[in-house]
Amino acid sequence: MKNTPLLECKGISCSYGDMQVLYEVNLTVMEGEAVVVFGSNGSGKSTLMKVISGVLKPWGGTIRLSDRDITNLRPYERVKMGLSFASDMRNLFLSMSVEENLILGAYTKKEKVKEMLERVYHYFPELADMRKKLAGELSGGFQRMLSIGRALMSAPKLLMIDELSLGLSPKMAERLGSALLSINRETGTTMLLVEQEIYLAGELCSRGYVLDLGRVVAHGEVKKLLEEDVVRKVYMGGF
Ligand SMILES: Nc1ncnc2c1ncn2[C@@H]1O[C@H](COP(=O)(O)OP(=O)(O)OP(=O)(O)O)[C@@H](O)[C@H]1O
Ligand SMILES: [Mg+2]
Repeated sequence: MKNTPLLECKGISCSYGDMQVLYEVNLTVMEGEAVVVFGSNGSGKSTLMKVISGVLKPWGGTIRLSDRDITNLRPYERVKMGLSFASDMRNLFLSMSVEENLILGAYTKKEKVKEMLERVYHYFPELADMRKKLAGELSGGFQRMLSIGRALMSAPKLLMIDELSLGLSPKMAERLGSALLSINRETGTTMLLVEQEIYLAGELCSRGYVLDLGRVVAHGEVKKLLEEDVVRKVYMGGF
């Protein structure tokens, strides 16, 4: 891990209509790091991911990627700059094949399609075996794998995943987690994840942020965070 920030969010505030959902959120992810965002339901995790990926516009604060202000860039411009987002909605084209879905993920890096396909098939050989199958024929777990593979196709510097393991079997969650760990270590891809499974998050991520009602209430080493009362209260319902 280098000692340079890749992503810097400063003072992010965001509302849906009259309802404020994020309050001056500060978050930094260093190059090569894997960072998790914790928080109970409705605490603003997905909203924060949407703001960083450019789907939602914050009314306050700035976002920098590789030391460039991207606050006003459109989502595809951010993808071009190396930011890729696998949202909790899988957003696959179900009547297209696995490989066609992957290729669409490389729309900003067409010259890299072959190289990135090889990389995705290397980490997810199951997708290579199913490359001609329709995305709609895959199980939920493999659809999740495909959505992550597609996010990797743009050769991101920063890979963001919302709710990595939600709805997956423990086996598939473990499978995706270990692939992501290898990708992080071997390719240096920086990661920002929302993950409710503490065990999985702790395996993958060294540092975390805890959101409560749209505010960062704690951040630091995941292992230490889990010992803090505020985190237990917010995240685990107080026991
Ligand atoms: N499109 C929307 N329009 C209006 N309010 C929304 C919208 N999306 C989310 N909200 C509200 O914003 C708040 C934060 O939602 P968000 O989805 O960011 O939370 P979350 O931490 O991702 O929750 P979860 O764990 O359930 O995924 C909630 O009160 C939610 O009801
Ligand atoms: Mg969410």
